[in-house]
Amino acid sequence: MKFFIDTASLDQIKEAKDLGILDGVTTNPSLMAKEGISGQENILNHYVKITEIVDGDVSAEVISTDYEGIVKEGRALAQLAPNIVVKVPMIKDGIKAIRTFTDEGIKTNCTLVFSPGQSILAAKAGASYLSPFIGRVDDITWDGMQLIEDIAEIYAIQGYETEILAASIRSPLHIVNAAKSGADIVTCPLKAILGLLKHPLTDIGLEKFLADHKNANS
Ligand code: E4P
Repeated sequence: MKFFIDTASLDQIKEAKDLGILDGVTTNPSLMAKEGISGQENILNHYVKITEIVDGDVSAEVISTDYEGIVKEGRALAQLAPNIVVKVPMIKDGIKAIRTFTDEGIKTNCTLVFSPGQSILAAKAGASYLSPFIGRVDDITWDGMQLIEDIAEIYAIQGYETEILAASIRSPLHIVNAAKSGADIVTCPLKAILGLLKHPLTDIGLEKFLADHKNANS
């Protein structure tokens, strides 16, 4: 399973890269706004800065919701760097645009996916990545992980090549369960990635090893 970081923070992207486990980055308009990035030129420049840090794919989301607008915006984003993936919402014009991008060789990430039916349409349109939002499904007391399992089963049966990018990850447990449920990729906040490190027995064990070494060598 690949690890993407879900942020527009350059510092956090660098920290995850330094850990040696980073395969890509996803952003969305809310994450860009959170970093105070606004204005078309600044937004495009920021995407370029991210692509200069990571070798893997970087999802840049369109704002347009009509076919012509999505295609125009997506083509411009795709020209920023070879590792830009155009992130397109799961709407009728979005599916149409994903088909156009697929035919043009532009990689896409179909976002705001909440049902197996939507996942079938995105795969049929040729989306490179599919982003089912686990946390937001859990937020309304449905089962986000069941959604990943259902999509993984359908994609395996049908032989779809679209990669399942489990999104809206909120915790280390989400990451572990996404891995068990058949996600190809998880996109996570840095905090959730670092949370995977934690175990009290590791801390206790390390403390004992260091104390024993100190006693034996003093
Ligand atoms: C990533 O592609 C999604 O936009 C993101 O994971 C959404 O996460 P959230 O539900 O925590 O905002």
